[in-house]
Parts: sequence; C-alpha cells; structure tokens
Amino acid sequence: MSPQKFGGPWTEQKLAAVEAYLKAYLKIFTANPIASQLTRHYVDAFAGSGWRQWAEDEPQLWTDEEGDALRFAEGSVRKVLGLKEAFHRYWLVEKNSKHAADLEAMIGNDFPARAANCTVVCRDANDFLLDWLARLGAKDRVVIFLDPYGMAVRWTTLEKLARSRKVDLWMLFPSASVLRMLPHAGPPSEAWSRRLTELFGTEDWRDEFYPKDVIMDLFDSIEQTQRKVDSSSVADFMLRRLGEVFAGVAPKALVLYNSRRSPLFHLVFAAANPKGAKPAIRIASHIIGTS
Ligand SMILES: C[S@@+](CC[C@H](N)C(=O)[O-])C[C@H]1O[C@@H](n2cnc3c(N)ncnc32)[C@H](O)[C@@H]1O
Repeated sequence: MSPQKFGGPWTEQKLAAVEAYLKAYLKIFTANPIASQLTRHYVDAFAGSGWRQWAEDEPQLWTDEEGDALRFAEGSVRKVLGLKEAFHRYWLVEKNSKHAADLEAMIGNDFPARAANCTVVCRDANDFLLDWLARLGAKDRVVIFLDPYGMAVRWTTLEKLARSRKVDLWMLFPSASVLRMLPHAGPPSEAWSRRLTELFGTEDWRDEFYPKDVIMDLFDSIEQTQRKVDSSSVADFMLRRLGEVFAGVAPKALVLYNSRRSPLFHLVFAAANPKGAKPAIRIASHIIGTS
C-alpha cells in the first residue's frame, strides 16, 4: 500500500457528503420497483489509490477503538465499496499507474465480493468519460464523482455528462485555485486565460470577473478593468454555467475551508436526468445544507 498525502478535515466533509448521497440514491434505486430495473453505475473518475495519509499539518481527528490516532484514512473508493447496498458496476479511473495498481490490489484483498463488478482504468478521466458515455444504453443510470486536485476537468466533458440525461454528478470545484489565476490589476496571461476558458467553456468569465469601470477625472473619462470576484462568486459562475446544460443544479455548493477558514474548494452537484433531477437536487441540497 502507498497512500497518497492530501487533504484535511475538509476531505472527510467532502467524502461524507458524497457518501450520504450514494446511500440515499441506492436506497431509492433498490427499493423502488421501477428504478430497481435500471442498471446502476458508479464512476470515480479521479479514484486515487484507495487510501490517503494524513498530511503533516492535519489535525488527527480520528482514532481507532483503542484511542490511538489513525494515520490513514479511507478514500472515496473504499467508502463506496463498503456501502451495504451496491451498484451493478464500478468504474474507477486513475491516471497514475502506481495508484491504479494499488487500487486494484486493494479491491481484490479487501472487497473480494465486489471485485468482479469493478473495473480499474488507468487513463485520463476526460478521455475515458467521453468514450464510456457513448456506450451507455437507455436503462443505465450513473453517479459520477469528479475529485481532481486541480483544474483537470474540461468543460467539454461536463457538457457530455449533461447531454447523457443519465448522470448525477458530484464535482470538487477548485475555486481557490481559479481565484489565484485572476490577478487583481487586470486579466490573466494568455496561457491562464486559455485554461479558464477550457474550464468554463466560455469567454464570458472575462466580463464577469473583470467588469469595466469608467472613472471620470477633470478632463476625461478613463476605462478601468479590475478584478471584482471572490471564491464564492467564482463558484456561483460555475453553478450558473452548469445550470445552462444540466437538467438541474443544487443552487448552493458545499464550501470546504482550510484550517484558517479560507475557502479552498466548492463541492457542487448537478443532475442530467430531467425526470430524476428534482428529487436528486432536493436530496443533494439537504446534504449540502447539513454538512
Ligand atoms: C484528490 S485525488 C483523489 C482522491 C480520491 N477520490 C479519494 O478520495 O481517495 C486525485 C487523483 O486523481 C488522479 N488524477 C490526476 N489527474 C487525473 C486525470 N486527468 N485523470 C484521472 N486521474 C487523475 C491523481 O493521480 C490522484 O490520485
């Protein structure tokens, strides 16, 4: 086992929210006679190795039964495979070949009963999803968790997920990283601008984050462009963009803070299935509100 070092208490908060949603989803899809006829897929597109190691500055909040501090925490795949109710298929995508191999071994050792339904794919998440979505049939339903470290998710991927009409999506949106790419004095460099356009799928972020102000002096008027945005308005812009393509979007994101109470990420939820969107948004919003 080679656990990855990342996260903090906010990581547990993020995983708890996704886990609560999956429990509610599986309850509905196993108990409801019509929904139980559908094939349930779970996709963890930034799957990791299954375990993570506490970062050095992370408070040790969890202890084992003897009261000793736990050094390792379960990652998203372990949490999902440990649920009582099951998905029919688990698609676990991890670009790093060492992590993918560790993940595969961990599943074989610790979840032998579910191993036959798991496929570990060592590939870029965007490339995998574009191919995989095209193979889904009318009876497939999917929950996808996109949990990247940074800005690895492309807008074109999100658009395809929305068009599938089959996907419920939880995505960790890197609001603080986006904010760091937006200089106070004026728009970012060409390279960063391209990345932001790839992330949001539009150039509209320019007018949104850098509204033009006209300043009058004694003789003339001067047009000034200055940043007017914080991490929550960056996240709101992403929620509005998702609302343009998905059937429904939870109106509020779950804000994940670092130990100094600065927002790091926003966990967002969107539903692509027009029929299922309303209850899905209600459940996700309840979880976001109580997390
Ligand atoms: C934040 S970690 C995921 C943690 C995991 N969800 C968990 O709870 O344990 C992000 C993972 O995504 C992988 N990764 C980074 N870029 C990727 C990409 N483009 N496609 C697929 N995996 C990627 C990294 O190697 C890393 O293991």
